[in-house]
Amino acid sequence: MKVFVKRGDSYQEFEVPRHPSQTVLDVVTYIQRHLDPTLAYRFSCRVGMCGSCAMTVNGVPRWTCRTHVDKVLKQEKLEIGPLRNLPLIRDLVTDMREFFDKWTRAKGEFAGSRTKRDDFAKVPPQSEERMQVDKGIECIGCGVCYAACDVVKWNPHYLGPAALNRAWTLVSDVRDQSKLERLRAVSGDAGCHACHTHVSCTERCPKQLSPTAAIAGLKRAVAKAILRGDL
Ligand code: SF4
Ligand code: SF4
Ligand code: FES
Repeated sequence: MKVFVKRGDSYQEFEVPRHPSQTVLDVVTYIQRHLDPTLAYRFSCRVGMCGSCAMTVNGVPRWTCRTHVDKVLKQEKLEIGPLRNLPLIRDLVTDMREFFDKWTRAKGEFAGSRTKRDDFAKVPPQSEERMQVDKGIECIGCGVCYAACDVVKWNPHYLGPAALNRAWTLVSDVRDQSKLERLRAVSGDAGCHACHTHVSCTERCPKQLSPTAAIAGLKRAVAKAILRGDL
């Protein structure tokens, strides 16, 4: 098959043999090991746990280790590039610093009240609050949703679907003590109201999470806090 790999401003063409159950990450690894050792790319777990192998494959952001070539090949061609909306380090490797800085800006750290001497908080698994958190907590920070979001492209300050999804899991966490500060952090021009509900993030998330629903939850929570006079 013909594989076109984005390197800077242009694409480099490689011929890669096909194998059964071959993943896109296998293809990139083949190129780096057998055709061009200078190709830069990133991966770690190879089983869909770390999220570090995310790239753009035939125009769509995906985890390359969990994407079979059979499913994405178009006319025996594969086009592979770095994730969109992130600064490029080299070839297929993007700089994730801004992506994670936005988690910090969205107050993405848990703020508890207990110390290690206190007992564990008991949150029943079937409670509405816990089930609300379950919907977003499996995010592994891969950046696929961020790369899929056009609002991030138009407005580089926009916090983006992953950071806002994280903020929503904490706003929904009964143990968290920083809800108001967090709602304040996500209510500005770069926050939840900038989302145009395009749903690309939700369509692309490999964990089947719905940042769109999380952002809608934040919008409701911000509106309620404003009506209460808290914001
Ligand atoms: S729903 Fe919002 S965050 Fe998700 S892709 Fe669309 S604009 Fe971006
Ligand atoms: S919400 Fe999904 S696509 Fe976005 S960073 Fe988390 S796991 Fe990746
Ligand atoms: S290498 Fe870890 S998710 Fe693909």
